[in-house]
Amino acid sequence: MSAQLLDGKQISAEIIDEVRKGVDARTAAGKRAPALAVVLVGDDPASAVYVNNKKKACERAGFRSLSFEYPATLTEAELLDLVRKLNEDVEVDGILVQLPLPKHIDADKVIETINPNKDVDGFHPYNFGRLALKMPLLRPCTPHGVMVMLEKTGVDLAGKDAVVVGASNIVGRPAALELLLARATVTVCHSKTKDLASKIAAADVVVAGVGIPNFVKGEWIKPGAIVIDVGINRLDNGKLCGDVEFDVARERASWITPVPGGVGPMTIAMLMKNTLDACNALHP
Ligand code: GUN
Repeated sequence: MSAQLLDGKQISAEIIDEVRKGVDARTAAGKRAPALAVVLVGDDPASAVYVNNKKKACERAGFRSLSFEYPATLTEAELLDLVRKLNEDVEVDGILVQLPLPKHIDADKVIETINPNKDVDGFHPYNFGRLALKMPLLRPCTPHGVMVMLEKTGVDLAGKDAVVVGASNIVGRPAALELLLARATVTVCHSKTKDLASKIAAADVVVAGVGIPNFVKGEWIKPGAIVIDVGINRLDNGKLCGDVEFDVARERASWITPVPGGVGPMTIAMLMKNTLDACNALHP
């Protein structure tokens, strides 16, 4: 059996269309369109691509996007000043500081400085804590996108065994909280986990976000499992691949996400949704 593909491009386009309708409803009522400030520090090529895609999505959603691009020499104090200025700017609804930041800047300090009401990444301890306490507001975009994809399978996650591979703040940890909120039984695996293969072999749902190409072997996947691959890794030959050995896994899984065209576009769609939600909350 070959798995059905979860088409992130298609699902994200539907979400952005919905967001666009929300924006049109605002402007028809005489309110301004949402505005997202995107901050990029340094010259990481992957970050430049992601930021560009976020700006393009803003156009499709009907948002105003404000771009702040700085060399890697920007100081932490200068970045914190910018964030404080954006916090106070009533014309700005969402603030996104692209990660990773240069080593001399403390990313946690930057995230904590963002006004939680404008934290459209959902990374601020306030928003993360709300998710942990079953009161989500602005949810981290990638795990939220994963949940929307899981909903598309029509499978009820309650009581399912879910294994999250990776415990990062951006993917693994919030994904585990989202799956727990959906009442799955969640196991979080990380670099110290023993016998990963047997844990994955017992999983009804696998969410992989470690950033290592083909880290999860296709033969580990339980027949009929749902496989969500958050990894986007560039190989030496220039091709993109995920964290899961796709060709073998797709022959065992019931549903699987491709890379590219899977979770990647969903992250951006959920960012657009968060920005509209933030705007509607700040300026009803
Ligand atoms: N770097 C990798 N993923 C993300 C994300 O979702 N948001 C931000 N701000 N930086 C990232």
